[in-house]
Amino acid sequence: MIPKKVKVEIRRVALEDAAWKKAFDAFYRDSPPPKDTLEIPHAYFAAYHNGKIVGHSVIYKKLAKWVLDGLRVKPEWRERGIAKNLTAARIRYAVENGAKEIWYDCEDGNLVTTCCHLRFGFKKVGHRGLGDDRNTVHSYRLKVTDGLTKKLNLPE
Ligand SMILES: CC(C)(COP(=O)(O)OP(=O)(O)OC[C@H]1O[C@@H](n2cnc3c(N)ncnc32)[C@H](O)[C@@H]1OP(=O)(O)O)[C@@H](O)C(=O)NCCC(=O)NCCS
Repeated sequence: MIPKKVKVEIRRVALEDAAWKKAFDAFYRDSPPPKDTLEIPHAYFAAYHNGKIVGHSVIYKKLAKWVLDGLRVKPEWRERGIAKNLTAARIRYAVENGAKEIWYDCEDGNLVTTCCHLRFGFKKVGHRGLGDDRNTVHSYRLKVTDGLTKKLNLPE
C-alpha cells in the first residue's frame, strides 16, 4: 500500500528526452494518449517517484487558446494530490507564458477531474459542440486573475 503522504516530484519533460518518451508511451499504453502536440507550443509535465512516472499531463496552445489535456494518474497513486499538483504546474506554465485564459474539456460524468480543476476557478462555459459526445462533454474556462497569480505564487 502506497502511503498517502509520499514524495512525488513534478517536473517538465521534453520530447527530446528519449528515456521519458519511452516511459510516456508505456504510461498511456492502456488509455488514450494526449493529443499530438508536436506542431504547436506545448509543455508536458510528469510526476515522478523514484525515477518512475506515476502521473502525466500536458498543456498546449492551439489557435491562441491554452488547453489542458492528458491528465492521468496511475490507479494505485490516486488521491494523493498528484493531479492537483500537475494541474497547478500547467497553469503556472501557461500564466508565465502570457495566458489570460486556460481551457479544458471534460465529460459530465468525470467528477474527479472536475474536482481537480474547479478548485483553481475554472467555470463551465458550454458544450464542446463537436463529435458524438458533444452533449455530454463541456468546456471549462479559467480566467487568469491577480487572485490566481497570488494563489500560485506567480509574479503579477
Ligand atoms: C482524474 C485523476 C487524474 C485524479 O488524479 P488524483 O491524483 O487522484 O487527484 P488528486 O489526488 O489530485 O485529487 C484532486 C481532488 O479530487 C478529489 N478526488 C480524487 N479522487 C477522488 C475520488 N475517487 N472520489 C472523490 N474525490 C476524489 C480529491 O479529494 C481532491 O480534492 P481535495 O483536495 O479537496 O481532497 C485520476 O483519477 C485519473 O487518472 N483518472 C483516469 C483518467 C481521467 O479521468 N483523466 C481526466 C480526463 S479529463
